[in-house]
Amino acid sequence: MTKLSQVAFFASVIAFACAQCPHMDAMKRRDTIRLENSAFESLESPRTYKGMEIFSEVKEDIRKALKTPREEWPADYGHYGGLMIRGAWHCAGTYRKSDGRGGCDGARPRFAPELEWEDNGNLDNSRIILEPIKEKYGDDLSWADLLVLTGNVAIEDMGGPVLGFCGGRMDDADGTNSLPLGPSTIQEAIKPCPVNGKCETPLGQTKIGLIYVNPEGVMDEPDPEKSVHAIRDSFGRMGMNDSETVVLIGGGHTYGKAHGACEDPPCGEGEMKGKGNNTVTSGLEGPWTTTPTQWDQEYFTNLLKYDWVKFKGPGGRYQFKPSDDSVHIQMFTTDVALLHDESYLALVRKYATDKEALDNDFKYAWYKLVTRDMGPRERCHGEDIPPAQPFQNPLPEPSSATVDVPAIKGRIAKLLRAETEILEGDKDTEGKPYYGALLVHLAYQCASTFRITDYKGGCNGAAIRFVPQKDWPENVGMDKVLEFLGSVHADYPDMSWADLIVLAGEVALVEAGGEPMDFNAVRSDAVSGEHYESVELRDYYVNATVAVRDSMDVMGLTPDQFVALMGRPRSNSQMKRIGLLGSYDTDPSHFTNEYYQLLLNSTWVQSEQNEHVYIAEDSEGVKIEGTHMTDWDMVLINVPELKEIVSEFAADEKWFKEVFAEAWVALMRADLF
Ligand SMILES: *[C@@H]1O[C@H](CO)[C@@H](O)[C@H](O)[C@H]1NC(C)=O
Ligand SMILES: *[C@@H]1O[C@H](CO)[C@@H](O)[C@H](O)[C@H]1NC(C)=O
Ligand SMILES: *[C@@H]1O[C@H](CO)[C@@H](O)[C@H](O)[C@H]1NC(C)=O
Ligand SMILES: *[C@@H]1O[C@H](CO)[C@@H](O)[C@H](O)[C@H]1NC(C)=O
Repeated sequence: MTKLSQVAFFASVIAFACAQCPHMDAMKRRDTIRLENSAFESLESPRTYKGMEIFSEVKEDIRKALKTPREEWPADYGHYGGLMIRGAWHCAGTYRKSDGRGGCDGARPRFAPELEWEDNGNLDNSRIILEPIKEKYGDDLSWADLLVLTGNVAIEDMGGPVLGFCGGRMDDADGTNSLPLGPSTIQEAIKPCPVNGKCETPLGQTKIGLIYVNPEGVMDEPDPEKSVHAIRDSFGRMGMNDSETVVLIGGGHTYGKAHGACEDPPCGEGEMKGKGNNTVTSGLEGPWTTTPTQWDQEYFTNLLKYDWVKFKGPGGRYQFKPSDDSVHIQMFTTDVALLHDESYLALVRKYATDKEALDNDFKYAWYKLVTRDMGPRERCHGEDIPPAQPFQNPLPEPSSATVDVPAIKGRIAKLLRAETEILEGDKDTEGKPYYGALLVHLAYQCASTFRITDYKGGCNGAAIRFVPQKDWPENVGMDKVLEFLGSVHADYPDMSWADLIVLAGEVALVEAGGEPMDFNAVRSDAVSGEHYESVELRDYYVNATVAVRDSMDVMGLTPDQFVALMGRPRSNSQMKRIGLLGSYDTDPSHFTNEYYQLLLNSTWVQSEQNEHVYIAEDSEGVKIEGTHMTDWDMVLINVPELKEIVSEFAADEKWFKEVFAEAWVALMRADLF
């Protein structure tokens, strides 16, 4: 993932550095851009995974390591399983639906900021125990795969159910891709959390430094009822529903114990100081069951069986214990919370009585937890990959392979200037109808949902036909554009909507004067919106600058690619439909670099009617009506490293079109694995 967004990040650093160096000549800069683009090509696809395909030998090694005592860090109950399940969980549990960031791909708990998170205390010890295995397999085995696989083996070794393993994670070189998770200035810009403990979406967790919620209770207040909302909210932001939430909390706490041996760590003496029974991690102390190395239903039966009373544990933090003092188990405020909500309580009862339901629900929820940042099943490696799950958006086999692409291109070309009543299009300079810019808009809207963060989105599946995407503000009218394309689809039903949408955009671009582009009919259509888990609309940014920078990073585009794509032909009628005043483009039927020249040679003044719109002024300060840009366009001239690129494209149209074609094809193909 992750590697690509790093490229975007570093590319922006490079571009910025070059904006500062006056002697940088254009050729050198172009080489830099070419290099970045070729890095994009080689990094975006699963072909970049060069690791192992068979994990059975690793699993054997893990199984042994789990029960081999290490003096540096003695195991609880003689089994490292509990620690390892927590390690895998905390690596994966950072995933959030809002922008697909987080997740174990990249193995970033090894680096700041995640390394320093309160919730990741002592997890470095799990890596010490796994180090010899990592060394044995070297680059064939990523830390990320090793951590998740170890979680799986630990669950199995203690008798729990595992659905399978999707391998293929690749390690990041540093923690850059976790900066948006916080704490960092990038996270502050995307979404500040003024009350740490009550963080909101797009952040996944309620408190920065934790994976989900504060186990002691909201803002350290041991009130189980108040934790109910925090649990549902936080797990929801990670894409988990009630049954997944309850089975994961209970399944996880079936194993191992919490650590809070004393209030002032390190406690204990000599050899065992700070370890074994002297360990302090969360500050909460004790196991949840009497059989912490065994998969069973005890967590759920315990919750129901005892009266839970609040007490302060040896770590000085609030916990709950059975009123019956002879039972040496404990629960967190967030565990007891599961008894304080009707839906959670029903599920606790179900898992306490129905072992089959527990086994089944846990294995699916765990697989989703550790796999959902990996994208479609096609990206998985290994010998034990389960069938595609709903969260992986499985699509039917493509049926377009045999369609007559040149004939369809011809049909689309005729549509560009057709007379139609279906929707209002644009006009060319001669006042004739022109629909090309709308077809470009449709293709861009369809494909630009792609997120390199979790390989979700993109035009494959053509989810733009369904709720929620069809209702997104920028997609107003796209149902009409689809209807307009419907005559072609009716004649060539074997071509998927996804292919047709992409091809129509390409035909419009090339007919308007763009560079030729490669097209392969390989996409297929989701059956319905219910069978496709759409990405979410990212409409939470404080301003356009943050929106542009973050979108670039989430989509995995380099600044050059992003700036080029911003210069795509723009439909005047569509800009009006989405509530803006119109386009800069007087003639979208001619694809040129005019956009960049206009950006640079005009003075742009914010519209009084719409804060997102800017209007050009001539040298006399007179507004040039009908020439509109948006706040996103303004970012391109307000951020120096982007303005540098704008200048290059303004000066060299051929260069712009080359970069554009490369970027367009890369985006259209980003979701094909
Ligand atoms: C946009 O918001 C960020 C984060 O709050 C801030 O640092 C930046 O100055 C803002 N930019 C503009 C142009 O308002
Ligand atoms: C939660 O989602 C899973 C997986 O999609 C599904 O099987 C389960 O029925 C859902 N549970 C609830 C309570 O909706
Ligand atoms: C921790 O304490 C328990 C109970 O007193 C004991 O059985 C166990 O051996 C101790 N573990 C370690 C690692 O010292
Ligand atoms: C600015 O650029 C546009 C597009 O090339 C051109 O039509 C216009 O004349 C230019 N204006 C000035 C003041 O140079």
